[in-house]
Amino acid sequence: MANVYFDPGDQRTAKVNELFTRIARRYDLINDLQSFGLHRYWKRRVVELAGPLPGRRALDVCCGTGDLALTLARRGADTIGLDFTPSMLEVAAARGRMSGSRGGLPAGGAVPQFVLGDAQHLPFGDNLFDIVTVGYGLRNLASWESGLAEMARVARPGGRLLALDFGKPGNRLWRGLYFGYLRLFVPVLGRVFCGDARAYRYILESLLHYPAQEGVAAKMTELGLAEVKIVSFLGGVMTINSARKP
Ligand SMILES: C[S@@+](CC[C@H](N)C(=O)[O-])C[C@H]1O[C@@H](n2cnc3c(N)ncnc32)[C@H](O)[C@@H]1O
Repeated sequence: MANVYFDPGDQRTAKVNELFTRIARRYDLINDLQSFGLHRYWKRRVVELAGPLPGRRALDVCCGTGDLALTLARRGADTIGLDFTPSMLEVAAARGRMSGSRGGLPAGGAVPQFVLGDAQHLPFGDNLFDIVTVGYGLRNLASWESGLAEMARVARPGGRLLALDFGKPGNRLWRGLYFGYLRLFVPVLGRVFCGDARAYRYILESLLHYPAQEGVAAKMTELGLAEVKIVSFLGGVMTINSARKP
C-alpha cells in the first residue's frame, strides 16, 4: 500500500512536516516503546562522541522534541536546536523550561534555544559551531546531501559532525529480521498510540530510500571531512556517522 507520508517528489518536505505535526505529542512515548528505551543510550553516545562540551557551541539539526539538544546543554554546551515542525519545537521548548526550572543545568549553563528553520538551508553563517549533530533527521530530508553539506558549512574548522540514524545491517538475515520488525511491529505501535499506522510504516519506507551509514560516510569523505567513522550498534541496526571538519 502506498504510504501517504513518503513521497519522493516535490511534496516530500510538506508530507514530512505533516507527519511530524501529527505525531508530535506521542513522539517521545513511541520512541521509547519501539526502541525499548535504547534510543536514550544511542543519543547519549552521540553526545559523548562530541567530546568536551562546556563552553562549546553546539547545533542540533532536526532537533524534534529536543533530546540531543537538551543533553548537549545539560553537559555545558551553548546549544541551538533547529527544526521545521512548530509542534515538535513546542514540546522541545516546554522540556527546556522544565529542565531549567529543575536545575538540571551546569553552573552558568543555559537551556537550548529552539529555532524554526529548514535543515537544508540553515539560517547561520559559515564556521560557527564546534559540534553539529542530527538524530533521525537526514533520512527525512528531500535532499539529505544538502542537509549534510549545510552541517559541514556551519561547523567551524576542527568542529565535529555526528549523525545518528537507523542503519542497514550488512548481514542479510539480520537485516531481514530487523526490516520485518520495522514493517510489522512498529506500525502497530503507531496505530495503537497515534491512531496512525502509516506514520510509522514511513520509517522503513524512508530507510529503503536512504543510503544509511555507508552512503553518509562516503558523502562525508566527498565533502572533504576528516576522521570519517561509523559507530554501529546491534550489528548495524543503529549507527552514528562521525567526522571532523579539517
Ligand atoms: C524522527 S524526528 C527526530 C527528532 C530528534 N532529533 C530525535 O532524535 O528524537 C525528525 C525531525 O526532523 C524534522 N525535520 C524533517 N525535515 C526537516 C527539515 N527539512 N528541516 C528541519 N527539520 C526537519 C522533523 O520535523 C522532526 O522533528
